[in-house]
Amino acid sequence: MRTFSQKARKEGKRIGLVPTMGALHAGHLSLMDYTRSECDLLVASIFVNPLQFDREDDLAGYPRTFEKDLELCTAHGVDVVFAPRPENMYPDGFQTSVSVGDMTKGLCGAGRTGHFQGVTTVVMKLFNTVLSDIAVFGEKDFQQLKVIQRMVRDLDMLVEVVGRPTVRENDGLALSSRNKHLSPEERKKALCLSRALDRACSLAAEGVVDSPTLIAKASEEIQKTNGAKMEYLEIVDSDSLKPLDKITKPARMCLAVWLGETRLIDNASLN
Ligand code: PAF
Repeated sequence: MRTFSQKARKEGKRIGLVPTMGALHAGHLSLMDYTRSECDLLVASIFVNPLQFDREDDLAGYPRTFEKDLELCTAHGVDVVFAPRPENMYPDGFQTSVSVGDMTKGLCGAGRTGHFQGVTTVVMKLFNTVLSDIAVFGEKDFQQLKVIQRMVRDLDMLVEVVGRPTVRENDGLALSSRNKHLSPEERKKALCLSRALDRACSLAAEGVVDSPTLIAKASEEIQKTNGAKMEYLEIVDSDSLKPLDKITKPARMCLAVWLGETRLIDNASLN
């Protein structure tokens, strides 16, 4: 992979990377289409990264659709699919990791020990191998995007990390590989996430700036959905990810909700 990229860079080609764990959906494809339009060469990585899973069953059950993924990559103009094996990424004796500080402690980091360290470690390795000029991530995983941007800034890395808007089903559900695990009943209930965000966004647009009020109103949408269990619902500073009491600067509402065995996340800008 690196030999290919070094040669392409010498030829002055601009390389774009879309890192994925496969099970590609329209959200990933929109990242590829955007990157395709910005770069001479489009690389997509497909690697289900064991380091970022905090539960064995979650790793084992993660959807794997490699052949279909390759077809989709071809259809969306991907020049190279980088799909390493776990033993090549983490050979015997592997013992180094990259971790970002406070920004990884709250939100998803609070309930998923080691998750972000797994993400930043693999993303650092992908960046060092693919040598892309830009790397494009979805805003659906907002904390992940911000943490990776902070790693790149703090460690003076050369790649530009770009965030792109969340792609949604017509009814508002954010696309996620995990949606496949929802039963028809849970799929209907999953709309409580986007409804909660819509409620907070409408109130914020009407001038409500007080976070506890916005959080209480948004939480009602989850609480009245039978079987939905809220892991967190918070308003944070869009850059530092620190909790905000009032929306006086760029702010993001982020939430994680369980429907049965499936954990869904979503977020929206309140400004
Ligand atoms: O968002 C994902 O699919 C993964 O966390 C990533 C960025 C590919 C790292 O494994």
